[in-house]
Amino acid sequence: MEDWIALGYLLSAALFIFGLKKLGHPRTAPFGNQLGALGMLVAVVTTILQMGLGDGVEWVLIGAGLVIGSLIGLWMAIRVEMTGMPELVALFNGFGGAASALVALSEIWRFIEEPTNVPTNQLELTVIMVAAGLSALVGWMTLTGSILAMFKLKGGVSVFGKWIKTPTWGPVWLNPLKVLMVVGVAVLIYLSIDAPTDTNYLWGIIGISAILGIVLVLPIGGADMPVVVSLLNSLSGIAAAFTGFIIGNSVLIVAGSLVGASGLILTFIMCKAMNRTLPDVLFKSFGGSGEKESLTRTKVGSDPDEVAMMLDGAQKVIIVPGYGMAVSQCQHQVKEFADLIAEKYDTDVKYAIHPVAGRMPGHMNVLLAEANVPYEQLIEMDEINPEFPDCDVALVIGANDTTNPAARSGEGPLAGMPIIDADAARTVVIVKRSLSVGYAGVDNDLFYMDKTMMLFGDGKAMMTGLNNAIKES
Ligand code: TAP
Repeated sequence: MEDWIALGYLLSAALFIFGLKKLGHPRTAPFGNQLGALGMLVAVVTTILQMGLGDGVEWVLIGAGLVIGSLIGLWMAIRVEMTGMPELVALFNGFGGAASALVALSEIWRFIEEPTNVPTNQLELTVIMVAAGLSALVGWMTLTGSILAMFKLKGGVSVFGKWIKTPTWGPVWLNPLKVLMVVGVAVLIYLSIDAPTDTNYLWGIIGISAILGIVLVLPIGGADMPVVVSLLNSLSGIAAAFTGFIIGNSVLIVAGSLVGASGLILTFIMCKAMNRTLPDVLFKSFGGSGEKESLTRTKVGSDPDEVAMMLDGAQKVIIVPGYGMAVSQCQHQVKEFADLIAEKYDTDVKYAIHPVAGRMPGHMNVLLAEANVPYEQLIEMDEINPEFPDCDVALVIGANDTTNPAARSGEGPLAGMPIIDADAARTVVIVKRSLSVGYAGVDNDLFYMDKTMMLFGDGKAMMTGLNNAIKES
């Protein structure tokens, strides 16, 4: 039986690794996801089989946990809108961290309930106490940080019908406090090695770690949120790996390390995309106050017929999608637009993909793939930017921060973030409902340029109107 269990864990680890590999390309990503899910199923079944070998297993509790957990997961996954996905991912990161920390806690609890369970071998005890302490630090920090990140992505929380905005607050003195808290947890972990049954150390570690998660995420806002969400994702994996060491579960170590490592790689990709370093994101608080700039300028809107007329003869059009496309779910109308002008005016059409457009990594790729846009037409920011000066029309659909020239100024919440150079195109058409600011709360000069035509309205309605106007022209 032991061999079958080892084989089961090996199989699930292999499925995770192949799944991750397939996630590297939009075309193979759905299959990668299925492989990962299958790997998790194999891991769960193997663990249940392994537990079956032990005595005194509370099968009712385990069964109830599995059923209730699966039903809640299913309900959340069915209910969530595509635009709410990033918040759900942030929440799941937090739950992952907490689950790992709870498993580690249950191991330590065995010592507290029955001191004879404490290992007599000093090295073994040290390894368990350090791993449990680190799992608690990372796990509880991930839970509170992720819940706060979720509310930041939402923008606020409704309390008795009143909308309370999630604050972004980070005075400089918070930085030494963060370091002090990490040192405090390290000292408590050290002290707990000599007193594994003392609950005071345990509660101290949990309390400080939970506050640390909030203190860490509170100052971060605006354009830096993608970095913090992927960092929290990585931390949830690291907590799982620590817990794997405590309970001696190889698949937890492998899966945790994979999540930790891939999350960290994504974090650095995001940092590079935002032109930030990780210490800058964590300690410099670029996010601003979270306040949105008040708008004083105005701009007269255009209509679909006017834009359709201007498009007649356009040789090159670059579509710049953003979060608004996700909100209005107009990716199919965008694809229809691209097909129409390619067919009618023989226009060369490409899509400019900013790494943090939307609210989650690959958000635009997923939506456009759903509308069957050919992958070859999706061009990454660095590659497409040099093409804008030769582009007749940049059609910005629901993108704002990712096209905001204010990012080049070196000041404010968007400071230093590389943007899509839509402003270099000969004409810019922007589809959005108003002149209002984007996620980072910064007014956008692009809207007010002479060469910019604003199509004010919901993305889907405007793109449908534009397509009809092109068909009739
Ligand atoms: P944003 O700057 O968020 O702007 C989106 C724009 O879409 C808004 O200004 C809004 O203007 C418009 N919009 C909303 N609903 C619409 C609708 N139904 N129809 C048409 N337009 C609509 O978008 P972006 O350029 O994609 O930038 C993404 C931002 O999110 C960045 O600041 C990024 O750092 C942040 N962020 C990204 C991620 C990831 S991983 N991608 C995660 C967290 C945060 P109106 O209200 O005027 O319509």
